[in-house]
Amino acid sequence: MIPTYKFKKLVLPNPDFSSEKHNPFPNHYVHIVGVEEEVTILRSLQKPRKITFKGSDGKSYIQMLKPKDDLRKDFRLMEFNDIVNQLLSRESESRQRRLCIRLYSVSPLNEECGLIEWVPNLVGLRLVLHGLYKQKGSVMSTKEIKEASCTTRDPLAKKREIFTKVFLPKHPPVLGEWFKRTFPDAQSWFFARTAYIRTTAVMSMVGYILGLGDRHGENILLDSVCGDAVHVDFNCLFNKGETFEWPERVPFRLTQNMVAAMGPLGVEGLFRKSCACTLRVLRTNANTLMSIVTPFVYDPLVSWPRIVSSSIHNTAEKTNDQALDHVKNIQLRLQGIIVKSRDRSLSIPLSVEGQTNSLIKEAMSIDNLCQMYIGWGPYL
Ligand SMILES: Nc1ncnc2c1ncn2[C@@H]1O[C@H](COP(=O)(O)OP(=O)(O)O)[C@@H](O)[C@H]1O
Ligand SMILES: [Mg+2]
Repeated sequence: MIPTYKFKKLVLPNPDFSSEKHNPFPNHYVHIVGVEEEVTILRSLQKPRKITFKGSDGKSYIQMLKPKDDLRKDFRLMEFNDIVNQLLSRESESRQRRLCIRLYSVSPLNEECGLIEWVPNLVGLRLVLHGLYKQKGSVMSTKEIKEASCTTRDPLAKKREIFTKVFLPKHPPVLGEWFKRTFPDAQSWFFARTAYIRTTAVMSMVGYILGLGDRHGENILLDSVCGDAVHVDFNCLFNKGETFEWPERVPFRLTQNMVAAMGPLGVEGLFRKSCACTLRVLRTNANTLMSIVTPFVYDPLVSWPRIVSSSIHNTAEKTNDQALDHVKNIQLRLQGIIVKSRDRSLSIPLSVEGQTNSLIKEAMSIDNLCQMYIGWGPYL
């Protein structure tokens, strides 16, 4: 007989996303009665394990066990996204446009490991693109990419030239092809493309407000059943990406493939409208969002980059200064003020449309993209 283990705090939700009733934060508890023997080890950085729990309700629950990662930020971010979804569903325009973020449960177990609900039918953006380029025979090997890449010290003109004359011509847009193949009939293709545009727009705006980085092609996944873009791995928050060796320069990922897959209008039309609609809801509800974000950034449980200091008092003060800075930046963005990462100068408060326009331009700027870390795939 399989022994019954009761995990009081472990929330194992019903992973049926096809149902409108899917609730990633249910208030009933299912406990674990067993673990399936088959485990898949994923290839990404932390080598997470995909495991299946047998629940006391007779159902199977696929989870990702993530080692060497503090999931408390991911957990808090999911709570934040849940509130954003509620705000989006309250406003008539965003509700009509069905703007929302895909949620999944995150259960931090301690400071360095936790469980993430496995969302079925997802495929990584990079994997999709890589597969298509391979079929077309225009895939660049890691060695070729390394040889062609610039160093951080190269001048902007050289970076721009290599990006536009080597990387972009080798990678013509192909993502639209994936939509055509995955959704072969006209109606499902149209719905999938619309869902992709909307979900990309919402997460772009929410990610920008929170300074979410590390949006490489393995942290943005596509749902092969409904077309949604689903973001994972929320460790790089509050503009941490700007401190990397290759500082991140774009407010969100909006690479040439992502734009071309939106159709002949590109970012015009549905994408721009959905971005502006989301931003308007976020800005209108700035006070509510700040009340969620403020304790989040001050939370001593959420690890910030360690500051080497001689006294504990000093460290606490510096951590507080840093937290204060994060809160201030989020507040400014919610007022339509753009903070330039290079010299920290501030723009005048922009209208929702003006802010949306400025962000889309920054995200698509060749000068920004050519200075991104090549492993991020700015050319994809
Ligand atoms: N909730 C999820 N549902 C389905 N697949 C996921 C989920 N979270 C992550 N993945 C897959 O697992 C991979 C690794 O997860 P990630 O959190 O990015 O780990 P790492 O820190 O190792 O990069 C992702 O690239 C994605 O393909
Ligand atoms: Mg990742």
